[in-house]
Amino acid sequence: MEAIAAYFLPLLLLPFSLYLFSIIRRSGSNDQKKLPPGSPGWPILGENIRFSLSPEKFVSDRMSKHSPEIFQSSLHGEKMATFCGAKGNKFLFSNENKLLASWWPQSLRKVLWFPKITDSDTNVDSTYNRILHRDVLSPEALKKFVPVMDALAREHMERHWKPDSVVKILPLVKKYTFELACRLFMSVVDPVRVKKIYEPFSEVTKGVLSVPVDLPWTAYRRAIRAGEVIREELMRMVEQRKKELNEGVGEDEERDFLSKMVMLRDEDGEFLSEKEICNEIIVMLLASYDTTTSAITGVINHLAQLPHIYNEVFKEQMAIAESKGPGDLLTWDDIEKMKFSWSVARESLRLMPPAVGAFREATTEFTYSGFTIPKGWKTFWTVHSTHKNPDCFPEPERFDPARFKGSGPVPYTFVPFGGGPKMCPGKEYARLELLIMMHNVVTRFKLEETIPNEKIVYHATPTPVHGLPLRLHPHCE
Ligand code: HEM
Repeated sequence: MEAIAAYFLPLLLLPFSLYLFSIIRRSGSNDQKKLPPGSPGWPILGENIRFSLSPEKFVSDRMSKHSPEIFQSSLHGEKMATFCGAKGNKFLFSNENKLLASWWPQSLRKVLWFPKITDSDTNVDSTYNRILHRDVLSPEALKKFVPVMDALAREHMERHWKPDSVVKILPLVKKYTFELACRLFMSVVDPVRVKKIYEPFSEVTKGVLSVPVDLPWTAYRRAIRAGEVIREELMRMVEQRKKELNEGVGEDEERDFLSKMVMLRDEDGEFLSEKEICNEIIVMLLASYDTTTSAITGVINHLAQLPHIYNEVFKEQMAIAESKGPGDLLTWDDIEKMKFSWSVARESLRLMPPAVGAFREATTEFTYSGFTIPKGWKTFWTVHSTHKNPDCFPEPERFDPARFKGSGPVPYTFVPFGGGPKMCPGKEYARLELLIMMHNVVTRFKLEETIPNEKIVYHATPTPVHGLPLRLHPHCE
């Protein structure tokens, strides 16, 4: 009850500000321009609530009602033009840094990052950022982490996935993805220290989704405080690591992402500051945790529901397992053999995409399909305008990994990781995490649903409402 009150309290305080805001907004100066069709919804609240309840329905309803190409709405207190279809995706992905710049809702930035750095978005597009993603998250850089990921997955299965029992998959996957991130990002393995980061982190993930009003007792205020706690903890780690690396006490820069970041120099030979490193780690934690959790849970759900798909994945994964010696960990070469499994994972990402899309800001006024997008408006591309659109994917509800055979889907239609220069830099990390988990699950267990076709709801990502309880049947020897 208290939690619900904290979440909705700001709504009760809003009516007066809504009234003022609506007066200010009516005096806007875009009357002469042909703006995209649509409705901005309630002042301040905009259409946030409808959007968060079901982004998929939100988008498909507006595409049918207003236009299949572009519509306007108001999200995060901003005028927002949603570009739809492959054409809309292509336009946005191709105009990065020309007509559009990165934009994150202020509410999110306030919770996550050190304020001095986030007064502008520059850090998001900086040279550091590009180098960081190239050096830390590229396939080349991640290759050597495959056995580490597999070792942690095995240990996790031994500890938590009990044969012949019913286990809730979602909380287990959450635990795995967070522990893995702590290990790979910062070499934190001690459960007490993992918990110390996890507790404030889960406040942050709850709070960034709440109504962003910074008052006592709100979930948003708790998220801001929790963000401070995480930053303090991370700052300690970064300083300690810098010291160790400077003193050369047996640490090497290949140890984890943190060491790589500490040793990284930009094109002018400058190191990242401690605060920049903290910001990067927080962004990576947040960007990876819910998304990969949802992706892994989604694919396990599909494997449990579709025995014919499970059997094909099982065959592929067993062939890999049988080609290895006892106790050998997975390697990059093994991952490269998991072709059918990756098609299955992609089809699962098409049907249950963990990320809805992303925002940008129009840095100049431009037209699209005959409509004006004024400077300062925000834009949005979304997986929901193509992934289940029958024009892009015939029989869109059918699970069919064969869609990824050959050259695969038409460009700009399958976009779980976005596209263009700002495509998710964690795509490869996510691919490895997904495939390694699929390998570990199917080579151990057959999966039986205990709640057939469990309902999926949106809690930032698609989430099975009961946490996906499955019965685990070990394979006979
Ligand atoms: C299945 C899992 C994942 C999905 C579906 C996903 C999806 C996305 C999407 C759609 C974006 C926005 C792209 C855009 O702005 O147009 C994004 C950004 C980002 N992702 Fe991922 N992601 C996943 C996993 C990860 C992982 C594992 C990491 C890090 C280890 C990561 C790090 C990031 C970062 C840092 C950004 C912001 C990039 C920037 O603005 O420069 N993601 N992701």
